[in-house]
Amino acid sequence: MSDVKHTAILGAGVIGASWAALFLASGRSVAIHDPAPDAETMVRRYLETAWPVLEELGLTDQATPDALTFHSSAAGAVDGAGFIQENVPERVEIIHATYARIEPALGDGAIVSSSTSGMTLEVLQEGWRDPRPFLLGHPFNPPHLIPLVELTANDATGDGVLDRAEAFYTAIGKVTIRINKGLPGHVANRLQAAVWREAVHMALEGVASVGDIDKAMWAGPGLRWAAMGPTTLFHLGAGPGGLQAFCDHFRDTFNGWWDGLGQPHLDDAAIARLVAGMEEAANGRSVADLSAERDGMLAAIQTATKDMRRA
Ligand SMILES: NC(=O)c1ccc[n+]([C@@H]2O[C@H](COP(=O)([O-])OP(=O)(O)OC[C@H]3O[C@@H](n4cnc5c(N)ncnc54)[C@H](O)[C@@H]3O)[C@@H](O)[C@H]2O)c1
Repeated sequence: MSDVKHTAILGAGVIGASWAALFLASGRSVAIHDPAPDAETMVRRYLETAWPVLEELGLTDQATPDALTFHSSAAGAVDGAGFIQENVPERVEIIHATYARIEPALGDGAIVSSSTSGMTLEVLQEGWRDPRPFLLGHPFNPPHLIPLVELTANDATGDGVLDRAEAFYTAIGKVTIRINKGLPGHVANRLQAAVWREAVHMALEGVASVGDIDKAMWAGPGLRWAAMGPTTLFHLGAGPGGLQAFCDHFRDTFNGWWDGLGQPHLDDAAIARLVAGMEEAANGRSVADLSAERDGMLAAIQTATKDMRRA
């Protein structure tokens, strides 16, 4: 799979355009199908912004943003592609119709991976006559900058498809995890939801401003979490006794905190308070300004730590 040279992208919106940028940066060619009349313009514009950051992260020798073709049909786009990433709108009838169109056109050994955040593998498999080439490969936005891909397969997935998809993603610089039991939001979004729930609770309770709660994250645990996950970090948090010593010491503290965590609800009043707090925190910086700041830092962190990661 790491040898796949030609790929396809179905649906080139927020996620599909970013995947296309990454596939191109890895030196692969990309065939795109997206029925939106301005899809080609939007993708090319997206590439202009993404390419300098990808150059900073390190392009392969063959990488060129020109190895791109646009196709009026999904079947035309997947013709000859070894790996296909599907990113169409998250509506089951659109997704199933897409699979029905591409299934007869798939080449031998081709793999189709869905970016879906909210649909289960089982529901999407219903759109296939033979679901063996298909699995979920859920990225974290933006996929060209955030390494994580969460993979879900099951007994109906073909032999070796999960391994081959993992090899493909690894070859283009992604970090994969395997999901053994499907839950809404997979793993990473659930972690995010858990943390944001408490951030929202504290903001609504007036514990600190929206800006200060965010600062507590990026200047504190967020920086450590960019290096290692929460359980590994606590394994390092109580000396040589590791996680056992940490739990022995802090079990009552954590059980007490967990019992007291907030259960906010995003109703109109709560949203209005968060939006006002965010406006204050943004301090005049637009969404585009903040996005550029974010992408620059994401690239810088990964460039600086590229050769340090061991697993
Ligand atoms: N946005 C995120 O943060 C995020 C993160 C991870 C995964 N995802 C998943 O990625 C998928 C795409 O989400 P998005 O945010 O890019 O949506 P989007 O609305 O930005 O893009 C969807 C694109 O699909 C195109 N499209 C519509 N009908 C189509 C068809 N029949 N065939 C091909 N293309 C078609 C649209 O023109 C649009 O460009 C969803 O499954 C979503 O759950 C999104």
